[in-house]
Amino acid sequence: MSAEREAAEVATVVAAAEAGPAEDVSSQPPSAEAMGNAQPPEASDGAAAAALPPLRCLVLTGFGGYDKLKLQSKPAAPPAPGPGQVTVRVRACGLNFAEIMARQGLYDRSPPLPFTPGMEGAGVVVAVGEGVNDRKVGDRVMVLVRSGMWQEEVTALSAQTFLMPESMTFEEAAALLVNYITAYMILFDFGNLRPGQSVLVHMAAGGVGIAALQLCRTVENVTVFGTASASKHEMLKENGITYPIDYHTTDYVEEVKKISPKGVNIVMDPLGGPDTAKGYNLLKPMGKLITYGMANLVSGPKRNLMTIARIWWNQFSVTALQLLPANRAVCGYHLGYLDSEMELVSGVVTRLVALYNQGHIKPHIDSVWPFEKVADAMRQMQEKKNVGKIILVPGPEKEN
Ligand SMILES: NC(=O)c1ccc[n+]([C@@H]2O[C@H](COP(=O)([O-])OP(=O)(O)OC[C@H]3O[C@@H](n4cnc5c(N)ncnc54)[C@H](OP(=O)(O)O)[C@@H]3O)[C@@H](O)[C@H]2O)c1
Repeated sequence: MSAEREAAEVATVVAAAEAGPAEDVSSQPPSAEAMGNAQPPEASDGAAAAALPPLRCLVLTGFGGYDKLKLQSKPAAPPAPGPGQVTVRVRACGLNFAEIMARQGLYDRSPPLPFTPGMEGAGVVVAVGEGVNDRKVGDRVMVLVRSGMWQEEVTALSAQTFLMPESMTFEEAAALLVNYITAYMILFDFGNLRPGQSVLVHMAAGGVGIAALQLCRTVENVTVFGTASASKHEMLKENGITYPIDYHTTDYVEEVKKISPKGVNIVMDPLGGPDTAKGYNLLKPMGKLITYGMANLVSGPKRNLMTIARIWWNQFSVTALQLLPANRAVCGYHLGYLDSEMELVSGVVTRLVALYNQGHIKPHIDSVWPFEKVADAMRQMQEKKNVGKIILVPGPEKEN
């Protein structure tokens, strides 16, 4: 979309906002729900609303296959952010593995059905609520919410938005927050990664995986083992992996031990089930395993009860008595449960933006899909075809 067209569109929305909200919500504090889930605008009968085209949103209507996500539209209303909130015209959204799990009913931070998924995105501020001094109309921002991002317009707390660096595209901005915050906190806050250490990164060619590789590269002399399908290995080497391992054809535990008999300092575990125990047993003394996902629960387009039973049966558990002589740590990380810790998260984003500006990190975009093609976008991830981040744009395809 051209800068002129974008400016004109923002101006239209701002003019509608200035014409007055459908109902006065300015005296209402944001609800607890609004703290986490981005709110769709309310429908309005006003003349200003009539001038606005309807807003498109993706809605998860039930648990199951790709067809459970529907593209819907709703009447637009002039943006009316509450105190502390901003309204953002969305330009790009990130697709995360959690949304694959949510569609199958396997994600514990989802709101009740039906709901609009999406935890992250980027766009332009079109209205600011009372008391918001750090954002203004026209700001390009990244947005982090618990859900509700996959729609054309989103209202969220200003604390859930982050100014985009000038040189960053909307697609890159939509790819940064969830993947890089996760990789950063795992490697540096829990992992305490230091020069000369070694890391095992599973799903290394995915969104979090590539973020982890790039962040490992910011520390001197780090050896990175990573599991990924063979076709992705060349690209992983460009992003700093030391030893790519095709887990479809090779036993990654044996492979790591061949090269580093004592194991590794940090294991990033997004897989769960039997892989957590394998990771734990690969730790050197003083090593840390950080568990942050359960991708092994997903074995097809729909939830498979046999797979779930098998993964839970093989779930790793360890007692304090076993940990003590082992000189190892096991940590759990879930960004979705840090939504009341925005100050902490915001500190990480500040450091990530600095790393981006210094050229140390750059989100790798696998593909960009319009809302209409959300099923294809999800298939791309679920069928293990993606290298890097999958992006959704409100569309239509050619305009973005
Ligand atoms: N705890 C948190 O706060 C947090 C935040 C973000 C992400 N995560 C977790 O981090 C992991 C990566 O997430 P992401 O969004 O970056 O996704 P992603 O890595 O881009 O996911 C897709 C890739 O994962 C690999 N994969 C491994 N097992 C898979 C399976 N059962 N089904 C489909 N693909 C599988 C495939 O690549 P290969 O074939 O090359 O392996 C596939 O291309 C997920 O487990 C996610 O839940 C956790």
